[in-house]
Amino acid sequence: MEYKNTLQNKTDNRPIAFFDSGVGGLTVFEKVKKLMPQENYLYFGDTKNMPYGEKTEEQLIEFADKILHFFERKNAKAVVIACNTSSAVAYKKLKNNYKFKIYPIIQSVCSTFAKLDVKKLCVIATPATIKSHAYSREIAKYNSSMEVVEIAAPNWVRIVEEHRINQPQSIEQVKEILDIAQKSLPDKIVLACTHYPYLINVLKKFIPEDKFIDPSVYFAQNIKDDLIKSGLINNKFEYEKFYVSADPQNFQLASQLFYKITELPELILDM
Ligand code: DGL
Repeated sequence: MEYKNTLQNKTDNRPIAFFDSGVGGLTVFEKVKKLMPQENYLYFGDTKNMPYGEKTEEQLIEFADKILHFFERKNAKAVVIACNTSSAVAYKKLKNNYKFKIYPIIQSVCSTFAKLDVKKLCVIATPATIKSHAYSREIAKYNSSMEVVEIAAPNWVRIVEEHRINQPQSIEQVKEILDIAQKSLPDKIVLACTHYPYLINVLKKFIPEDKFIDPSVYFAQNIKDDLIKSGLINNKFEYEKFYVSADPQNFQLASQLFYKITELPELILDM
């Protein structure tokens, strides 16, 4: 796919870096890479501290700060917070502390969601994202008449990371949350944790697929548009590199549904 830098003849081969608590952010990474195949990429899965959705604000700020400093040392030109929980809880506190551009998922997509022809939106997310009310607050900035119902799904991230997606107990846990969501009669349901698209084959057993919104589709396009506008694009792919803070084998195995990682991720111990 063709894309050009707005500042002609100038390219920037520094990597675009992504992070999440685990494999969830790959649902974003995979889409950005499809839109911008000529970029170099870094990805950090903070698997030691997963699940983020059960952590405190202080912990989430500390994790994000460490990862952002790690990317600073790796000379990233932009960082994608491919994690709703971190965007909801840590982004605001940290956004001005680094040299690179930072793209947070929630703040990037809500202006688009606010324009949808939808009266009632249900947001399913991790407990920490729901507690922050980041989605309802952000959407209200652009559209105060859209009703936003927020529901926490405490077990869904572990189901994905522990590759238990098709087990009867997991399907039951997914259904339980969907039943609660359906009771509010929403027009659309936002999969507001980057791990949840891994569950789509289970989700669509109970609710038609077109009722779900995967924010990463809108997010990837926003990232591409802004990088072009900022004159920060590259013209030749050279590398992509994956890092984790624990258990590289498990990351490689759990990632398969969205992105096949050929090399074992590098283990970074001091995170
Ligand atoms: N995938 C992340 C999110 O979008 C974090 C999930 C977790 O570790 O609880 O919220």
